[in-house]
Amino acid sequence: MELLKLEKLTNYIDELVVLLCDSVDSGASIGFLPPMSELEAKGYWMSVQENMDAHNTILLIVKNDGQVIGSVQLSLSSKSNALHRCEIEKLMVLSDFQRQGVATLLMQGAEKVAAAWQRELIVLDTRTDDNAYHLYKKLGYKEAGDIPNYAKSASGDFDSTTIFYKEISTTQEVI
Ligand SMILES: CC(C)(COP(=O)(O)OP(=O)(O)OC[C@H]1O[C@@H](n2cnc3c(N)ncnc32)[C@H](O)[C@@H]1OP(=O)(O)O)[C@@H](O)C(=O)NCCC(=O)NCCS
Repeated sequence: MELLKLEKLTNYIDELVVLLCDSVDSGASIGFLPPMSELEAKGYWMSVQENMDAHNTILLIVKNDGQVIGSVQLSLSSKSNALHRCEIEKLMVLSDFQRQGVATLLMQGAEKVAAAWQRELIVLDTRTDDNAYHLYKKLGYKEAGDIPNYAKSASGDFDSTTIFYKEISTTQEVI
């Protein structure tokens, strides 16, 4: 498995579309409701490229035998009082490759990037008690609290979200 930081997602757009559709259609709570169309997914990734170009977003992927099997984004606030923090967004791993440490690899990479960018506070949120909830707890993220009825699910119910944070040591290394 290979962890990469992308500057341009052009060469990977089709695989990133597959990854997003797979996650949403499997019931992940990552901002969209199923069924996820390729058009909608492509539009989303184009907006990610714009954020990358504006240096607001850093995108990491994991490749296995040339195939994109996971991705995660760091959102870097440009507010002058928030240059020490970042948010982790849209961590996803292809269904067929889950439970093999791919998300752990992505999160370790994200933390290294955050450290290199002097972002010593990482925040994120996830559906309460979701698979990712257990992952973040295992990786040492602390629960700040729950917000009830935060996001609509595929069933039409509204799910609670849990906000997590982690304080990390920064480095001088620029990634
Ligand atoms: C959540 C997700 C990213 C985890 O990816 P993954 O590559 O399977 O995770 P890892 O293999 O690195 O798992 C590490 C740990 O997380 C926890 N974990 C991961 N999946 C879990 C599951 N289905 N049930 C319970 N715990 C789980 C476990 O503690 C696991 O350690 P273990 O395998 O030694 O028990 C993946 O399930 C996914 O892509 N889901 C859909 C998208 C999504 O919901 N993203 C979260 C956005 S906040």
